Amino acid sequence: MLVLGIESSCDETGVALYDSERGLRAHALYSQAAMHAEYGGVVPELASRDHIRRLAPLLRAVLEQAQADAGSIDAVAYTQGPGLAGALLVGASFAEGLAMALGIPTLPLHHLEGHLLSPLLCADPPAFPFVALLVSGGHTQLMRVAGVGDYELLGETLDDAAGEAFDKSAKLLGLDYPGGPLLARLADHGNAEVFSLPRPLLHSGDFNFSFSGLKTAVRTVVERLAPSAPDEAWKDDLASATQASIVEVLTHKALAATRAAGLQRLVVAGGVGANRELRRVLGANTARQGIRVFYPELEFCTDNGAMIAFAGALRLMAGTTPKPPGAFAVQPRWPLSAVSQPVAAKGPP
Ligand code: KG4
Ligand code: ZN
Repeated sequence: MLVLGIESSCDETGVALYDSERGLRAHALYSQAAMHAEYGGVVPELASRDHIRRLAPLLRAVLEQAQADAGSIDAVAYTQGPGLAGALLVGASFAEGLAMALGIPTLPLHHLEGHLLSPLLCADPPAFPFVALLVSGGHTQLMRVAGVGDYELLGETLDDAAGEAFDKSAKLLGLDYPGGPLLARLADHGNAEVFSLPRPLLHSGDFNFSFSGLKTAVRTVVERLAPSAPDEAWKDDLASATQASIVEVLTHKALAATRAAGLQRLVVAGGVGANRELRRVLGANTARQGIRVFYPELEFCTDNGAMIAFAGALRLMAGTTPKPPGAFAVQPRWPLSAVSQPVAAKGPP
């Protein structure tokens, strides 16, 4: 079974082909980051227009890479939400139109389900059940994942997402968008001990997060130092302290949730999962506690089409019935709980 995956929820256009027998056949990605950097953040209208430009060439590229014919595709999976409404509409209408032309069904999917299942794409995938720490630009959630389509929310952010905390702090430090990876690079040269930043909700006793206070603390330091500092070395230290705060809270809560769920497998997914300091600290702490951490391949941490093609194939194999092509609706705001129910319980299609 060959599934085409289409991702267009934000500022990355991703297209991929996943074969249920042969694995990932091809994937192609176009990032609009450079275009949005000029504006300091994603401009939704520009994002939608750019997805329109990229989808058909990316589809041609994956078909060529896989040496496959469009006629051999069995279903089209695409991101139905959450995300930017216009950007989602581009991917959804392209996917539905293509499926209609090919006479094949579609699978509208939840973006976070793609992230959640992406670690299963790696060579040594975790077995179900596991706890997943989803850390992206828009979401920070801890989930218990019992199987495909069986997700239980354990905790989530009450305000900013971890990626947002990275990006907003980076902006305060004068870095381009998306600032997460740039802040991480500055942090490599800094000393986290120089500034004492808050660890929001660290000891709240639940699995929720809050990062907006951290951003305010970073702003206070920037406003104090920027006008008078003799050089920019403090920026490295502040980046390092910001990263240390986010990493400590994420690590503490993820491990507590894994222990509370009585599990030994923790999966980290979403763009912030690419952060090297997070990986280092999680690695050091989990080894001691007998917990194993799984990550998607680096290229599948941030938004991509492979995770959508793969989630689509897993859904089909688990018995989810695809829909006939044609009518569709996107879901810009959409809790993952809306698609969480054991697929197997519904019985075969
Ligand atoms: O999953 P993703 O690509 O998109 C969303 O669905 O939001 O995540 C993007 C987020 C951005 O906030 C970006 O700054 C952050 O992931 N990010 C990082 C790193 N790489 C990406 N944050 C910290 N360190 C990184 N190395
Ligand atoms: Zn994402």
